[in-house]
Amino acid sequence: DQNLSSLIMIFGATGDLSKRKLFPSLYRLYERGRLDKFAVIGIARTQQSHEKFKQSVKDSVTASLGEKPNLDEFVSHFYYQSHDVADSNSYAALKKLADEIDGHYGLEGNRIFYLAMAPEFFGPIALHLKSDGLTDVKGYKRLVIEKPFGHDLESAMELNKQIRTAFSENEIYRIDHYLGKEMVRNIEVIRFANAIFEPLWNNRYISNIQVTSSETLGVEERGRYYESSGALRDMVQNHMMQMVALLAMEPPIKLTTDEIRSEKVRVFRALRSVEGEQVKEYFVRGQYGEGTISEKSVPRYRDEPNVDQGSNTETFVAGKIMIDNFRWAGVPFYIRTGKRMTSKTTKIVVQFKDIPMNLYYQTEKMLNPNLLVIHVQPEEGITLHLNAKKAGGHLEAQEVKLSFANTGIHAMNTPEGYEKLLYDCMRGDATNFTHWDEVAYSWAFVDKISKVWENQKAEYPNYESGSMGPKAADELLEKDGFFWWPVSDMYVDICK
Ligand code: BG6
Repeated sequence: DQNLSSLIMIFGATGDLSKRKLFPSLYRLYERGRLDKFAVIGIARTQQSHEKFKQSVKDSVTASLGEKPNLDEFVSHFYYQSHDVADSNSYAALKKLADEIDGHYGLEGNRIFYLAMAPEFFGPIALHLKSDGLTDVKGYKRLVIEKPFGHDLESAMELNKQIRTAFSENEIYRIDHYLGKEMVRNIEVIRFANAIFEPLWNNRYISNIQVTSSETLGVEERGRYYESSGALRDMVQNHMMQMVALLAMEPPIKLTTDEIRSEKVRVFRALRSVEGEQVKEYFVRGQYGEGTISEKSVPRYRDEPNVDQGSNTETFVAGKIMIDNFRWAGVPFYIRTGKRMTSKTTKIVVQFKDIPMNLYYQTEKMLNPNLLVIHVQPEEGITLHLNAKKAGGHLEAQEVKLSFANTGIHAMNTPEGYEKLLYDCMRGDATNFTHWDEVAYSWAFVDKISKVWENQKAEYPNYESGSMGPKAADELLEKDGFFWWPVSDMYVDICK
């Protein structure tokens, strides 16, 4: 389905996500000539004219991408509709505008409904879109929704039920913006396009896999949301689990959405469930205290705006995930994510098993294991750590690194991720969006952990801002004979 003409209706068009990500991403697609026929209706509660909205779109593109040509032509495709999400009259007005624009641009009734707003509105909006006739079109209709998709399995099921009354599963595009990241997309290519990795990609040759996604930012202005979420729901249930699934899945038969999704789901089905007393054996939680980030003192989480002084919310999670299937039995996947850590970085370290016998002692030290490091952000690339002879006299081994750096793009959470996802949605390719089954399995896994944590008061704060998390996160690996590779010091050279 390559029909790219589309009417994109953005609910939440005055919000942060629209301004920082969606408008700049749409502009990039436009600039690259990837939008055939298109129009955008910005929808929000605020009353404002089309003109004022167009100006705000221009401003957000410039703020994000700098001065750009053809902005006037670009924004001539934008319209605005003030809206009350609970009022049928609002939807009637929206339908009228949408039908007019559709006719004007010849968009063949293709519609994308992008809900860039708080999740409690997803269900009611979807229901209204159907009952007020906005989904009654002759082209395609697609619903794009942001996370969080529910708060736990039960609320996610309820939400899914509501949106499924108006959209079928293959019309729903659940965004996980990590799936828009270049190197996350690269995982499958690195694995399945190389004869040297796939034969080793199993419990015979890999000792453990470590996925770290650390941030230096604190909770910023999102205290209210974060208090009811925490790192487990905010990062683990979605982004971290998605990366684990891509690292662990079997080769798909074909690169179709259904085949890839079903392989990911099989990974989720094989997750070893962790509950009750076991939780403390497998998972560690943390909350940041005061500390220093980029030489500036920062407050503890409990002193952030809209955060409870006695908050029990975790801002850090480390976990050991076991996938009980033939390929991965016995191989821990360690994950770690948190706010106010040493650096902003996402890296995957695949640690291979030691060689059976070491002939080449480095001075008093064992040989380093082979590592494959996938640098997701901020730099993008791969590094393979090998051992080779040290130049000169004796047969002494030293670690050497082979690196590949993606040039040009090294963007953190930038429009690029959204640009790819929006383009995928327009093309009707849902591969890099999360299927309901993935969401459900992942919630089921995470719920058992949050249930235990919610019922036990933690001793917070337990890590200093600017550190790599609580000591217990190190001990999690130490008791298995491993340690976290120091990802804050692992770089891949960016080729100029
Ligand atoms: C979001 C979380 O999904 O991902 C944020 O809600 C987090 O809390 C962000 O900061 C991290 O994304 P990125 O792309 O900056 O690693």
